[in-house]
Amino acid sequence: MTETQTATASEVNRVSVIGAGTMGAQIAMVAALAGFSTDLIDIQDQQLEQARTGLAKRLDRDVQKGRRSQDEVDTAWARLNLTTDRDAAAKQSDFVIEAAVEDLGIKKSLFSELDELCPPHTILATNSSNIVSSRIAEATNRPEKVCNMHFFNPALVMKCVEVVPNPQTSAETVATTTALAEAMGKDPVQLHKEVPGFVANRLLNALRKEALDLYNKGIVDFQDIDTAAKTALGHPMGPFELMDLVGIDVVYLIRLAEYEQTGDPASLPDPAVKELYEAGRYGRKSGHGWYSYE
Ligand code: CAA
Repeated sequence: MTETQTATASEVNRVSVIGAGTMGAQIAMVAALAGFSTDLIDIQDQQLEQARTGLAKRLDRDVQKGRRSQDEVDTAWARLNLTTDRDAAAKQSDFVIEAAVEDLGIKKSLFSELDELCPPHTILATNSSNIVSSRIAEATNRPEKVCNMHFFNPALVMKCVEVVPNPQTSAETVATTTALAEAMGKDPVQLHKEVPGFVANRLLNALRKEALDLYNKGIVDFQDIDTAAKTALGHPMGPFELMDLVGIDVVYLIRLAEYEQTGDPASLPDPAVKELYEAGRYGRKSGHGWYSYE
């Protein structure tokens, strides 16, 4: 491999996932289950421990239910390295998936550092659902190897992965990212161009906006909106249940990031979501959101 080449799918052996939150932890396990040596990186040991416990619970249940064999799970654990040593992991990585906080400044400095640390062939992808990669790629000297690779929550289950090139992303990077998603057992959706929110979240936002509007106007209880989405539309979850699954903090910060990009006041977080966010009611992960989980 020469210095300017991009890793092809068959050359991706080691995957790094940055950020051991809800998404990062499951994405890393998806990679490990698919046979990749995987580093799950976080700045906090405590976050890594939480990720380990959460994944163990999930996978034990999968084994109990006969969805995976104990052998498959043990092999995946052996491939997964949970670490705070980002620099050592980055130096060995063929493909990075960043799943850190939705903050442009943090992502830019992270990508700039990864650009210095990673081998030249390494693709730097972001799982960001709203920050388009052209805004991050400019912090690197390899914009052609930067793109969005967007998973859905829960990443162990949801099949969709959106692959979104920025104007400088090369065809090789798109091909490798798409092939990697397929190797992970996912059904990639390839966008031709960047657009904030991509495809699935734009569809979801339209539904959520209408749901919040009905609720804020006092027309109907949020529980009944969820019921209608499930019983009339056949959705597996209603929009309020889904906000609790994704995380109220994530929903709130995504809207703020969108507002920063568009400057459109219509993009600002909904007041009811803001209220929950400010009360620390982040949804399932904090025990309370729209619903209570205790
Ligand atoms: N993590 C991993 N696996 C999970 C899970 C989780 N958080 N929640 C559920 N599952 C799996 C489990 O295997 C579970 O089976 P067991 O309970 O027997 O272990 C199985 O799914 C079924 O779960 P449930 O019986 O609790 O409920 P369900 O049949 O409704 O399925 C679901 C759960 C798969 C989450 C389903 O409700 C669903 O598809 N919901 C919609 C999810 C969705 O729309 N996600 C996209 C969110 S938007 C996003 O992610 C974008 C972004 O940018 C933030």
